Amino acid sequence: MKLTIASIPGDGIGKEVVPAAKEVLETIADIHGGLSFTFTDFPWSCEYYLEHGTMMPEDGLKKLEQFDAVFLGAVGNKQLVPDHISLWGLLIKIRREFEQVINIRPAKMFNGIKSPLANPKDFDLIVVRENSEGEYSSIGGRIYKGVEEIAIQNGVFSRRGTERAIRFAFELAQKRRQHVTSATKSNGIVYSMPFWDEVFEAVSQDYPDVSTDSQHIDALAAFFVTHPQKFDVIVASNLFGDILTDIGAAIMGSVGIAPAANINVNGKYPSMFEPVHGSAPDIIGKGIANPIGQIWTAKMMLDHFGQEEMGQLLLDVIEEVLQEGYLTPDIGGKCTTQELTQAIITKMKGK
Ligand code: NAD
Ligand code: IPM
Ligand code: MN
Repeated sequence: MKLTIASIPGDGIGKEVVPAAKEVLETIADIHGGLSFTFTDFPWSCEYYLEHGTMMPEDGLKKLEQFDAVFLGAVGNKQLVPDHISLWGLLIKIRREFEQVINIRPAKMFNGIKSPLANPKDFDLIVVRENSEGEYSSIGGRIYKGVEEIAIQNGVFSRRGTERAIRFAFELAQKRRQHVTSATKSNGIVYSMPFWDEVFEAVSQDYPDVSTDSQHIDALAAFFVTHPQKFDVIVASNLFGDILTDIGAAIMGSVGIAPAANINVNGKYPSMFEPVHGSAPDIIGKGIANPIGQIWTAKMMLDHFGQEEMGQLLLDVIEEVLQEGYLTPDIGGKCTTQELTQAIITKMKGK
């Protein structure tokens, strides 16, 4: 299988972890024989914006469309460009234009990394995040000035989008432990969330083999900390899924290790693989960014292309290397990005 990958390191530590993960993928291709990656790098970032006035060229999406997948680091450097401009000009633009309507974000207990939980149990969950609408809408505005000023932000929950995300979660749960939890807030939000609950209830009828529960997002966030082992698949709106998955990352040990896959479900456009974390401005250039989020994201890309065996091998190698103590500072060690990456590559070669 020959895969063409558009690589967008983006900003901050994206430029440090994307090359690391690419090196791991190249190693996998060397081992596998039948698998190859051709990477093409795109420099689209906040620096690019300063030079060109846009986050990507006008024909940027046309360029990306030619590839099998997009492999992205992180976007955002608010010293240079306001976040809402950089993110809507690149990351969110690709998600929307390429109809990457589902964001799959797993979190599991990792041997070798100390969870900050006092009494961590073996958890293994996946958040299915609606990735194209919801609270992330560009509908709204600001009216009046001064003390009278009002900002209005509308949420958009279409039946198609809501049902699609919920159905995806059920299909996924059927292949796992047959349980779906819905993240709601229908006690406080009077239109979108009761609608979400109704759609969840209706879709659940089609999956009698899958058990369900529904939790308000506030309580659910607390349960992620107190007993994450109770969850299998969680389906959440765009914003709730965003927040839950940083908690998922945190209970694993660091936001630097959590992966994500933005999936184009209709096969019309490439999917995009990008970790949960951002550009981490506080550690840029120190060489200590944790590459696991990006490397595990590469594993999700392998799975996406049916290379589950290689994906599993990679995850096993990551776990082994962590258990041997190759840890970056965010997970309590002293390793650099390079040392951890090279340890993974060396072990991979020995397999
Ligand atoms: P962040 O995830 O960049 O950083 C939060 C904290 O986690 C920081 O202390 C950071 O050092 C740490 N961290 C993150 N990734 C790490 C890694 N791989 N290794 C070690 N430590 C890591 O979140 P933020 O500070 O809210 O955002 C910074 C910028 O990134 C903003 O511009 C934001 O909009 C953007 N952002 C982009 C994405 C994306 O492109 N997918 C995601 C989140 C945030
Ligand atoms: C993420 C990020 C983005 C999101 C931001 C940077 C717009 O936090 O991918 O989790 O909220 O989707
Ligand atoms: Mn986020």
